[in-house]
Amino acid sequence: MLRLAVLVSGGGTNLQALIDAIGRGTVTNAEISVVISNNKNAYALERARAHGIPALCVSPKEYESRERFNEALLTKLKACRVDLVVLAGFLVVLPEALIHRYADRIINIHPSLIPSFCGTGYYGLKVHEAALSRGVCVTGATVHFVDEGTDTGPILLQRAVPVRPDDTPETLQRRVMEEAEWVILPQAVDLIANGKVSVENGHVRIACEE
Ligand code: GRF
Repeated sequence: MLRLAVLVSGGGTNLQALIDAIGRGTVTNAEISVVISNNKNAYALERARAHGIPALCVSPKEYESRERFNEALLTKLKACRVDLVVLAGFLVVLPEALIHRYADRIINIHPSLIPSFCGTGYYGLKVHEAALSRGVCVTGATVHFVDEGTDTGPILLQRAVPVRPDDTPETLQRRVMEEAEWVILPQAVDLIANGKVSVENGHVRIACEE
């Protein structure tokens, strides 16, 4: 059973998609061992508690320095014996020590088709505002492994979503979540939990069904 830590900062709809997929059995061999938020008011924490999942806040504000916060985060993950870290809207830059300790064992969901509209400053509605102002006809979401860069790690899954002429950033964000993020994040976890994914030379290989 793959033990997951889901790191969140906000509403937690991707966390919910994962909880639901595990509940339905479309994600197998995985359990959410802990949900960690940097924001104590994140609704994601309530979603976790409602499902009996340990949920805690580890906030930089509660530590005297960034180093102490980094240590605390790593200590929690180790204590929970986590196999895979899932970043589901986590708005904190991960410490390098954590990235190295969990090399090829951290995934992130990003609301665009990387390499478009990603990197520093592209989060939340800003991603969708940028897509609309560039006038793309198609956008989507990406699940990728996390390396030291921002949205630069090996790509695991992508799913495209059409942009409609009357879209606002909000309507586009909603469609990308519903049609792409909530689909590919659980899929990615299921593939990893069932031993179908490997990372070689910075590229992902997915084993095909027989
Ligand atoms: C999602 O759009 C995700 O792609 C991005 O942050 C947002 C989190 O939303 N990384 P939620 O908290 O899962 O509702």
